[in-house]
Amino acid sequence: MSQNLDWANLGFGYHETEYRYVTNYKDGKWDEGGLITDANVVLNECAGVLQYAQTVFEGLKAYYTKDGHIVCFRPDLNAERLNNSAERLIMPKLPEGRFVEAIKAVVKANKDMVPPYGTGASLYIRPYMMGTNPVIGVKPADEYQFRVFCTPVGPYFKGGAKPIRIKISDYDRAAPHGTGDIKAGLNYAMSLHAIEEAHEQGFAENMFLDPATRTKVEETGGANFIFITKDNKLVTPKSNSILPSITRRSLMYVAEHYLGMQVEHREVLFSELKDFAEAGLCGTAAVVSPVGSIHTKDGDINFPAGMEEMGPTTKKLYDTLLGIQHGEIEAPEGWVV
Ligand code: COI
Repeated sequence: MSQNLDWANLGFGYHETEYRYVTNYKDGKWDEGGLITDANVVLNECAGVLQYAQTVFEGLKAYYTKDGHIVCFRPDLNAERLNNSAERLIMPKLPEGRFVEAIKAVVKANKDMVPPYGTGASLYIRPYMMGTNPVIGVKPADEYQFRVFCTPVGPYFKGGAKPIRIKISDYDRAAPHGTGDIKAGLNYAMSLHAIEEAHEQGFAENMFLDPATRTKVEETGGANFIFITKDNKLVTPKSNSILPSITRRSLMYVAEHYLGMQVEHREVLFSELKDFAEAGLCGTAAVVSPVGSIHTKDGDINFPAGMEEMGPTTKKLYDTLLGIQHGEIEAPEGWVV
């Protein structure tokens, strides 16, 4: 299959690969699970996931290091986050060891689809869990399926590392005290209308503000924000309704421990945006993507250092993180698996 793919020009799309992992939960326990080749899921018409959206997911990547190993980045944190999401939607937890073994099995079985080193592409891995038995009254399912498939991908935003233009969303992504902090399909369904509207208006993404007051910066729906102050601090929003990004957590560590920067993880006011030197998005899919300008109803907020290309500090963060991930810079213990 891999012969037909132009690795260096891949977009962020789905290319079916040969193997996926499946395990089913019934009568209070997970079965042994294993790899299968059928990409289709057969479900009862009344399955909990189809009726009441009881599904949670994760995203991580496998790629080649400089010295020819295939690795993943911090899969233990994806396992932990999947279980936090599952708990919130009354779904069973999957032991961390089983999650990581499933990831390894899928990557090994599809190793021909891991893009070569230096192409900028990677193998995106999508673990997810869903309620499978019939549920018609509003209640959690009793039976679940956990699956992992993978697909080779290129950059999430067209143009790769070129700065994007985004807008302030007219809609909210999450409710106060809602599910904005978990990786549930329903949060992404909520963002579809806003993203379509943003695309029609020529913007790559939305900035969602806090749903209670609309005065604070949250996230885009698919990625978290980072900002660089004029005195070179990394600032990133703290809120109980944004998804805790593993990439962001890693960047905060990289900024402090590799680049000697001060890091502020705190509420970020919309009114502060105009004072930042650089802005970017971060996430597994987005990696680190620079934001050149933010459209608001009172005009555009531009980040001059990063309008044409990635701003200098964002670039340092990007290069250091990628260097760690690809084995060019020494990684903290346990980051590269
Ligand atoms: C990821 O970054 O892995 C995500 O799940 C975001 C999604 C919008 C592709």
